[in-house]
Amino acid sequence: MDTSKKPVAGRDALGAVGAAPPPIPNQDSECVIRVNNLVKWFPIRSSFLQRTVANVRAVDGISFQIKRGQTMGLVGESGCGKSTAGRTLLRLMEKTAGEVWFEGQEIFSLSKEELRKLRPKMQIVFQDPYSSLSPRIPVSEIIGEAVREHEIVPKAEFDDYISYVMRACGLQEYHKDRFPHEFSGGQRQRICIARALALDPDFIVCDEPVSALDVSIQAQIINLLKNLQRDFGLTYLFISHDLSVVEHISDSVGVMYLGNMVEQGSTEEIFDHPLHPYTKALFSAIPVPDPDVKMNRTILQGSLPSPANPPKGCKFHTRCPDCMDICSAAAPEWAELAPGHFCACHLHNDAARTARTQENAERTKAEEHAKEEKAS
Ligand SMILES: Nc1ncnc2c1ncn2[C@@H]1O[C@H](COP(=O)(O)OP(=O)(O)OP(=O)(O)O)[C@@H](O)[C@H]1O
Ligand code: SF4
Ligand SMILES: [Mg+2]
Repeated sequence: MDTSKKPVAGRDALGAVGAAPPPIPNQDSECVIRVNNLVKWFPIRSSFLQRTVANVRAVDGISFQIKRGQTMGLVGESGCGKSTAGRTLLRLMEKTAGEVWFEGQEIFSLSKEELRKLRPKMQIVFQDPYSSLSPRIPVSEIIGEAVREHEIVPKAEFDDYISYVMRACGLQEYHKDRFPHEFSGGQRQRICIARALALDPDFIVCDEPVSALDVSIQAQIINLLKNLQRDFGLTYLFISHDLSVVEHISDSVGVMYLGNMVEQGSTEEIFDHPLHPYTKALFSAIPVPDPDVKMNRTILQGSLPSPANPPKGCKFHTRCPDCMDICSAAAPEWAELAPGHFCACHLHNDAARTARTQENAERTKAEEHAKEEKAS
């Protein structure tokens, strides 16, 4: 592990940029990861002839970037595509379209061997620490297996290195020979984090890393992740349902709805001035500890529509309390509404966007009309 990495501190800069992205330069030393219009659809095949009859549009064109040493929180309801985004951008599954630049390399253009070499630098920590650990392998081997495979340290230093990583993650080195079932949930998640850290990564996708843990243990794991970030200059994509945790750990936040990013900005900006009705609804559901505080809550109507057949126009229009006529006719543009604060909602259109939206809606209507006429 490169212990000479300088601690990285501060949440002064925004690590996220929006969808209609400019051409992405191949090299940007400030950003560890740049995602450009990433799309991941899962085909639904007919039982007869296995033809693709529809697609689950799990991720439908998202763009963002994360600066070195920073954390971007990714939030949204269950099923909105957070995990699929996290896994696709690590190339744990193949993309449908788009680009992912990691340390200046477009990861989908790499050969198998090039990707294998890059793997240690991009890691993932999953929600359930029990199912992601093999029950019959001792902890030293769980942490060390990939260290050996990728020759992270010379053989002679292997044991000391595993002890060092375990200590860094708050584990006792004399527990090396124990098996996962001999640990508590929090300790098991520390083992998962140690396994990722041992490969000397630059970037870790943390997919709901504390959701399966007790609240008291959650804080310990969050603090561990923050300390490791400070000590080793790690960059995180932090996926979570828990907005309080996201506020605590993230420098920037992206809000996803049905495969799309609907709002993005610095954590302060998003939490202090949310603009998108969906973000506002998510925030209004955060529990308030004081029972005397009266909340004007926005209750989201209905459930998440199917990503295989998303609503036309703004995908949120079927549930939006502020829905207007234009919302079902045209998708809103992604626009920077305040410095570094991006949002896609017709409520915030300026005159130029309104005109473009109207034009798009009319064109779509004309195309649909022509199609119907042709069909009849
Ligand atoms: N392998 C797959 N094949 C088909 N559909 C899938 C597959 N993986 C995910 N999906 C679908 O893609 C959509 C997004 O799933 P995903 O797991 O990314 O959501 P999520 O935001 O991580 O949800 P949660 O918060 O519950 O973890 C869902 O509709 C899901 O059913
Ligand atoms: S575009 Fe319309 S439906 Fe979509 S979030 Fe904004 S107001 Fe609501
Ligand atoms: Mg998930």
